[in-house]
Amino acid sequence: MRGTVAERYDLLVKGSTVATSSGFAEADVGVRAGRIVALGDLGRAPAATVVDARGLHTLPGVIDSQVHFREPGLEHKEDLETGTRAAALGGVTAVFEMPNTKPATTGEAELADKCRRAEGRAWVDIAFWLGATRDNAAQLARLERLPGCAGIKVFMGSSTGDLLVGDDAGLGEVLASGSRRVAVHAEDEERLRQRYTIVAGGAHPARHPEWRDAETAVAATRRLLALAETARRRVHVLHVSTAEEMTLLAQHRDLVSVEVTPQHLTLAAPGCYEELESFAQMNPPIREARHREALWRAVADGIVDCIGSDHAPHTRDEKRKPYPESPSGMPGVQTLLPIMLDHVARGRLTLQRLIDLTSAGPARLFGLPGRGRIAVGYRADLSIVDLNARRMITHRWIASRCGWTPFDGLTVTGWPVATVVGGGLVMRDGALCGEPSGKLVRFFDTA
Ligand code: DOR
Repeated sequence: MRGTVAERYDLLVKGSTVATSSGFAEADVGVRAGRIVALGDLGRAPAATVVDARGLHTLPGVIDSQVHFREPGLEHKEDLETGTRAAALGGVTAVFEMPNTKPATTGEAELADKCRRAEGRAWVDIAFWLGATRDNAAQLARLERLPGCAGIKVFMGSSTGDLLVGDDAGLGEVLASGSRRVAVHAEDEERLRQRYTIVAGGAHPARHPEWRDAETAVAATRRLLALAETARRRVHVLHVSTAEEMTLLAQHRDLVSVEVTPQHLTLAAPGCYEELESFAQMNPPIREARHREALWRAVADGIVDCIGSDHAPHTRDEKRKPYPESPSGMPGVQTLLPIMLDHVARGRLTLQRLIDLTSAGPARLFGLPGRGRIAVGYRADLSIVDLNARRMITHRWIASRCGWTPFDGLTVTGWPVATVVGGGLVMRDGALCGEPSGKLVRFFDTA
């Protein structure tokens, strides 16, 4: 009965090795009305669009749970169109965007404004973290359920912007309101203030991890775990950067989930600061290789649940300011997948584990119905990659408005060659196609 009108597909991905829930298998993927409707040998079934994917791997769409896209208020660094454009070119199909914009996303009006701005301009699916403050703490239970809300984000230590809930009383209030997993930037504000003298008045950026030292992160994570236990609230520790935190986190798997960035898995001090200076500056900092190795051990041991790029674009001029006036953050949404595929090629993790970290993991943690695996009935979000392609990452390739990457000049093995979002092909062979048609991500817990 192949080829009947009923079996016509909107999109047919032919002949790739598909990452299914029961392993890798050579198969075609048939897509209709935004969903995967058939897997297997689909022969010459008619389709509006056919992607010949022989020799390639089709992965469930990569979900980047931590990006800063700067709109509204800081569009000279990035906006929702340029940020999601970078995501699509990098093989990412959905992003959760952070609240430290101007104004910060702390209420219903700011969240609704971001959702409106994304309409017709987002190349990939998107949801927005809502920032916790002392003032909105009591309303978070209502706010976290609004459409388009990825959940609540807390800055325990100051970073870019002025969102901050640093003290135990404030954090306790935040954790007591609502039930979704709370995402936390865990650096201890008091210790950050005490130690600022190390860099105040000017220093080499290599001192960034000395000012914001390992204990700054460990102390915050320790406090957070105690507070989460008291509140019986699930928490998610973003961009974990130290060996000691991984030991702590492993003891609290009933409460906490763990995110790491490709930057922390790839770069190390002091070399990155010698080479990139303040362009390697981020919060929490890139640390010595001992920590990087511990992060890899935590990936291998199953302690890490997901990868977020912490895409945090700043212009070159801003980054060239003398440290510590230079802002913290590096772009990363476009390089997440190539960098991690290169780690797969080097044997640091398996392709299966990478998929667990970039699709199945976030889908499970954040409650995303119908996402995170390639299966009939699931949303057709696909990252199609060439595991053998050797390509150089360059500033020129970067679509983010900031126009640079810390990985310029790095040759990697493994490259995204097509991106499918909700059944629509949005990137093929390095070029965008179609129109921006990204939707708001739906969660089990949102309205
Ligand atoms: O390095 C960082 N940059 N860390 C953060 O927590 C914020 C981010 C930004 O928004 O620039």
